[in-house]
Amino acid sequence: MIKIAPSILSADFAALGDDIRRVEAAGADQLHVDVMDGRFVPNLTIGPVVVGAIRKRTRLPLDVHLMIVEPERYIPEFVAAGADMVTVHVETCPHLLRTLAQIRELGAKAGAALNPSTSPDTLRYAVDDLDLVLVMSVNPGFGGQSFIPGAHRKIREVRALLGNRPVEVAVDGGVKADLARSLVQDGATTLVAGSAIFGAADPAAAIGALRGTTR
Ligand code: DX5
Ligand code: ZN
Repeated sequence: MIKIAPSILSADFAALGDDIRRVEAAGADQLHVDVMDGRFVPNLTIGPVVVGAIRKRTRLPLDVHLMIVEPERYIPEFVAAGADMVTVHVETCPHLLRTLAQIRELGAKAGAALNPSTSPDTLRYAVDDLDLVLVMSVNPGFGGQSFIPGAHRKIREVRALLGNRPVEVAVDGGVKADLARSLVQDGATTLVAGSAIFGAADPAAAIGALRGTTR
């Protein structure tokens, strides 16, 4: 079944524990944590201290999306803080295999994210070193942006590149319920959604709609 990962970027940061409890009760499968450094992307968000605080409040797996330069400098702190999955951008990793191995050696699952303009070919020699590919369907940096349609083709290409390996394919950015079915058909196994879930009056209904159910 498709996994739904609410992105806490659209949560109320002054009431983060309450918002996390709401989406956990609403049936989220994991929490997506967007880490931004003001260098790789033009925005700043949170660091390992907040990840550690979230870890104490939820049993959901924490999927930490690092939109930062030189991610290898901070990966140990994020895993120690409780990250279950760590995703780095291929654009920030000249030694991608080393960075993916670093994540796995620390005991977390290793993901690679692709900006909208980055080719899946950049992962051709990394397919056996990955647990997750995160296809960005917006230019990273902000929640609430519009979905870039080229992501459909990108997901299909990533899926083909991975063959039958048990690697998750997640899509992140502008994901709304009306896109969910086609994204799953393309080969996505995880839908990341921020504004579609935290912006909804009823997060359980929003998660249900993303799953394609009618609860
Ligand atoms: C964008 C982030 C996304 C974003 C998703 O840089 O990586 O996770 O928060 O938010 P929505 O679903 O609102 O586009
Ligand atoms: Zn993200």
